[in-house]
Amino acid sequence: MWAIAAAGFGAELELVEVPRPTPGPGQLLVRLFAASVNPFDRKVVNGMLRGSAPHRFPLVPGTDGAGEVEGSGERIFGTFFHRPVGGGTYAEYVTVPAENALAPLPEDLDPAVAAALPTAGMTALQLVESLGTAESVLIVGASGGVGSFAVQIARAAGKRVIPIGRGDSLVEADALIDLVSADRSSFEANARYAPLAFNTNYVSADPAQNFGLKGSREMLVRLASMVQSGDLEVPIGRRVPLRGAADVFAGHGPGKTVIIM
Ligand SMILES: NC(=O)c1ccc[n+]([C@@H]2O[C@H](COP(=O)([O-])OP(=O)(O)OC[C@H]3O[C@@H](n4cnc5c(N)ncnc54)[C@H](OP(=O)(O)O)[C@@H]3O)[C@@H](O)[C@H]2O)c1
Repeated sequence: MWAIAAAGFGAELELVEVPRPTPGPGQLLVRLFAASVNPFDRKVVNGMLRGSAPHRFPLVPGTDGAGEVEGSGERIFGTFFHRPVGGGTYAEYVTVPAENALAPLPEDLDPAVAAALPTAGMTALQLVESLGTAESVLIVGASGGVGSFAVQIARAAGKRVIPIGRGDSLVEADALIDLVSADRSSFEANARYAPLAFNTNYVSADPAQNFGLKGSREMLVRLASMVQSGDLEVPIGRRVPLRGAADVFAGHGPGKTVIIM
């Protein structure tokens, strides 16, 4: 099968032909229709999980996708990340443990849209639910994958949203969702503006401020139904065919990048 992969940690992505994966016990083999690109994928290629999880090479990145289960024909979408790391969704086929966060792909939902939802959509949903009764929220990095979902979901929850892009000044608010800070001091500077603050890069000394996604089938079903009812727009900035996807980590502008198989 064709896949986009890195030969080693930090290597450039390239189009490669690799054997179709074989599902182990409790795993599904899925023929992918589409996969989406998340910052996590690049971090994995750069070795973020080196030493903490087994990897295989060539390393095929990709957590999110939508496709059809071989054998049953069931159409699904969700998060396919599993160990060993390197059998990801930038490929024609992927295996996935059946207990991963996976949900039925509705017939009338574009697989590219479904593939764009899992990590960014569930992160946004879980973050907004963590805000409790906060009436106003600053969202730093609002134009990105998580941010564009978080802005919509927070507004739908009745919150006053203050989107913060590059160069924008922060103002005081009840809560902060910081999707950008990559170090503690930068997050602490932003967190001064709100009594309730979360970051997504594990940079706070206070573990309660370090957000970690706990995805589920139920969250995916909710996100799909929000899209179907027109309550959630999925901003896809770029759709790229698998065979031309070796540059997907290059800058992409706002919205999600989706690889079409
Ligand atoms: N902990 C978890 O469970 C979890 C889950 C999901 C995501 N994450 C992490 O959360 C982060 C955001 O994810 P994402 O999918 O939303 O990434 P993304 O799509 O790359 O979006 C990041 C956004 O932040 C903007 N940005 C960059 N620097 C900025 C600045 N100084 N001020 C304001 N905005 C700025 C970017 O704008 P430009 O396009 O102009 O660069 C982009 O729109 C990533 O680090 C990701 O790994 C963590």
